[in-house]
Amino acid sequence: MAGCLRYAARPKFTTYYGCMSPMDSTTPSFSFTPNPAPVSPERRAELMANPGFGRVFTDHMATVSYTEGRGWHDAKVVPYGPLSLDPASSVLHYAQEIFEGLKAYRTPEGSVVMFRPDANARRFRDSAARMAMAELPEELFVGAIEALVRADRDWVPSGEGQSLYLRPFMISNDVFLGVKPASEYLFCVIACPVGAYFGGGCVSVWVSETYTRAAPGGTGAVKCGGNYAASLQAQAESKREGCDQVLFLDSREQRYVEEMGGMNVVFVDGDTLVTPPLGGTILPGITRDTLLMLARARGLKVEERPLPIDEVFEKAASGQFSEAFACGTAAVISPIGKLRRPTGEAVFGDGVTPGALSLSLKDELVGLQTGRGNDANGWVHRIL
Ligand SMILES: Cc1ncc(COP(=O)(O)O)c(C=O)c1O
Repeated sequence: MAGCLRYAARPKFTTYYGCMSPMDSTTPSFSFTPNPAPVSPERRAELMANPGFGRVFTDHMATVSYTEGRGWHDAKVVPYGPLSLDPASSVLHYAQEIFEGLKAYRTPEGSVVMFRPDANARRFRDSAARMAMAELPEELFVGAIEALVRADRDWVPSGEGQSLYLRPFMISNDVFLGVKPASEYLFCVIACPVGAYFGGGCVSVWVSETYTRAAPGGTGAVKCGGNYAASLQAQAESKREGCDQVLFLDSREQRYVEEMGGMNVVFVDGDTLVTPPLGGTILPGITRDTLLMLARARGLKVEERPLPIDEVFEKAASGQFSEAFACGTAAVISPIGKLRRPTGEAVFGDGVTPGALSLSLKDELVGLQTGRGNDANGWVHRIL
């Protein structure tokens, strides 16, 4: 599908975004239709004072369409609003849907940056490939987000722990009930100001022996909506058991740690971080990848290896695994106080106080993400 990609004719567009020249036929440009009734500055300030997570949305959204034979076209930023879908749209029946999650941050100087958006763009392509969907060029993925953030710049919060959460997603929208890869897709980006995802303490985690998340050959390594629908009963089980989150084990033997519903998981063993390896059933988290690189740069060791859940319980009991944390874009690092399963509990540290290494890695990463660190790896992507 990549071979037939092209962008719609330039004259259609009224506003160009980005530092790229509109004359360059390989770079995206977006038309802009301003929202005729944007949220007032007073109401916006009220909403942004306590936005929660994923409830408050900005004034605009970015969309790009794909049609087989024509490629990507109609890149635009338009007022945020409902999508009109035919009831026979294939996404409603066969769930060709993928998404991403990343954030834009306000720096202390007032500019706006993203962190490693190219990595999200690559993962989005990988997700599309696995789900037999049209692959969105990486510059179009990043360009759509930039165009939206520029339009909604006033929605990027500056409070402690706050950011603008960006949700790019793609659906198939063929009007056809046959089971086959669609020939039409809609890519869309929406944005919402968010506060801290979890509180400051430790989370408790239920180890599900009832449900698994991903099987070899399945879709565990990509970000398709179906993975999350399938995790909801397990999440409900964890709530019934009095826990905040669920940890999944491998589907073959129910013996090895995989990941949580929306985060990767890492254990601290002295000066070594131990985490399950990527291998098809775990989402390759960008936070995980970044933290492992930061840890290595500090001289810590990293073991990516199959990790039996029994070993975790034994090493928590002996104190060898002194800390555990979950990591992902939404919460960055969530220290884990306790793991629970039907036969017992594993406690890390005193079970309530976040571990020192978890906190210092979180500080380092948040500093980088918000433009306050030394960006030696060129991870910070400035938008404004
Ligand atoms: C299943 C799952 N694992 C891990 C992660 C962490 O990925 P990232 O660090 O890229 O946000 C996420 C969140 O995107 C997720 O949904």
